[in-house]
Amino acid sequence: MTVQSGARIAVLAPQVADQIAAGEVVERPASVVKELVENALDAGARAIRVEIEDGGKSLIRVSDDGEGMGRGDAELALSRHATSKIREAADLIGVGTFGFRGEALPAIASVSRFELETSPDGTSGTRLRVVGGKREGVDEAVRQRGTTVTVRGLFFNTPARRKFLRAQATETRAVAEAVTLLALTRPETAFTLASDDRTLIDVRPAASALERVGALWGGALADTLLPIAHREGPLEVRGFAQRPAQAKPAGRKGYVFVRGRPIRDPFILRAAEAGYRSTLAPDDRPSLVLFLDLPGDAVDVNVHPSKLEVRFRDKFFVEKVVEEAVRGALGPLAAAAPLTGIRGPGPGIGGSWEGLGEQLPAGLPLELFSRTPDTEPRTPSLLQVFDSYIVFQSDSGVAIVDQHSAHERVLYERVMRQLTGDGAPAQRLLLPLTLEFSGPELEAIEAHRELLRRVGFEAEPFSGRSVVVHTAPNPHPRFDAARCLQELVADLAGARFGALANRLERFAATFACRAAIKAGQRLEVEEMRELVVRLLSATLPAHDVHGRPTVVQLPRAELERRFGRS
Ligand SMILES: Nc1ncnc2c1ncn2[C@@H]1O[C@H](COP(=O)(O)OP(=O)(O)O)[C@@H](O)[C@H]1O
Ligand SMILES: [Mg+2]
Repeated sequence: MTVQSGARIAVLAPQVADQIAAGEVVERPASVVKELVENALDAGARAIRVEIEDGGKSLIRVSDDGEGMGRGDAELALSRHATSKIREAADLIGVGTFGFRGEALPAIASVSRFELETSPDGTSGTRLRVVGGKREGVDEAVRQRGTTVTVRGLFFNTPARRKFLRAQATETRAVAEAVTLLALTRPETAFTLASDDRTLIDVRPAASALERVGALWGGALADTLLPIAHREGPLEVRGFAQRPAQAKPAGRKGYVFVRGRPIRDPFILRAAEAGYRSTLAPDDRPSLVLFLDLPGDAVDVNVHPSKLEVRFRDKFFVEKVVEEAVRGALGPLAAAAPLTGIRGPGPGIGGSWEGLGEQLPAGLPLELFSRTPDTEPRTPSLLQVFDSYIVFQSDSGVAIVDQHSAHERVLYERVMRQLTGDGAPAQRLLLPLTLEFSGPELEAIEAHRELLRRVGFEAEPFSGRSVVVHTAPNPHPRFDAARCLQELVADLAGARFGALANRLERFAATFACRAAIKAGQRLEVEEMRELVVRLLSATLPAHDVHGRPTVVQLPRAELERRFGRS
């Protein structure tokens, strides 16, 4: 049936138009759940319950305790372009609700057996049934304030689309992901997700985003996250970035929210990863949760059918600020990993030994100089243990520095400056060194000649496979120029640091690793002091160029707990 028709052109019947809209909005059970939960949040719900059966293919039900609807509104809500959220196009600028197009309910109802029960006050209520877009009945219903939408037999009348649904487990996972995303945007709202009588998500109202993250993914993951709080101009970035040393190659969580909406934006995640600079091991991907807030007129949220993408007025600015925000979160020694995973004498003897560090607040501040009450800086004593670690007292506890990793970090930053500036002061060798190299190594020397010169190595081919070295850098008194150059060249010829995209970073990391003080070298107190001071003034002092920690800390509170003083 058509509404209006000419010779060839006819306006589509509303039911057909709804089904076509459903093609964009309703892709699978998870998209139905997303739309219904967003409506519940827009209605101010404090608690939302989602039930699915068979991955949502046979049943999806979303119940809320939000503001509900009166009879007239409930009937209108099922018409296309019926919304309570905007009145004119100008209202789209800075729209604060998830919905605004008024197409989800009619679209869902056009491809399912749909039932809506709602009450605005807990006394009078409405039940409305729609089958494949056809209204089947409106009754009185008794219920508490709020709304329940039940969707059965999704795509029962569009078999071609029903065929595209995936296995039950896959659809269930997608539904859980949709609920998780929305649960992250509203820590203060309770969410449950039940799938065929199994409870997959059950989170109570939380006081903070971090508490919500812990409830969704477990405290162990939440403890690896550092808070991000950064503002530049109109853009505020909050959220969490995982400590580099705790990032893993698989299973990372990466979420971006813009003005409270979950969006997919690989570029923003990539910008956030750039904020880690060289602190990540090659394959590791850090978990990231980013909440971006900026004025409504700086971003267009109406560019994608499921609103999963947004358009920024100045994308480069956003990416730059995100990168800085993450770098700032990792910057201070707060990023130093607390001692964790120390095992006790075994089960049954003191459970309190288990999980040392798990109760520690993330991000303890660490300052080199403990301050006495009259705020005179006092230089802490430094102790070298195992000829590999430097131990000293910090403001908040005991800090332990890995001397090789620390020196690597310090050299890396210095070398990055030298490579982009004038180069390093080199020492002319009294007796030039003659070293032998393999074919690929000779090519690597040739290819990196200018970079080698900038860090202090002047080398030229001599005869056959040998090279004469005229100058060498002098990063520390125990430096072995021949060994460093041999190892450096072997690394450059191989692909050891291949994961660092940037050639300069790769070269600097390789040089830093090879030129740094090694584990097992005894250090004088003055050398330790210089190393620690330099480390603490580096940009990312808590991590070396492989993403390993350079500093771990044993908080004083933990010592006091162990010794029964607190
Ligand atoms: N759970 C709910 N509680 C209260 N009102 C609702 C609920 N779901 C939908 N509505 C009402 O129905 C209208 C239409 O919903 P929808 O089709 O999703 O469009 P939109 O969310 O874009 O406005 C909403 O604007 C809202 O007024
Ligand atoms: Mg909606």
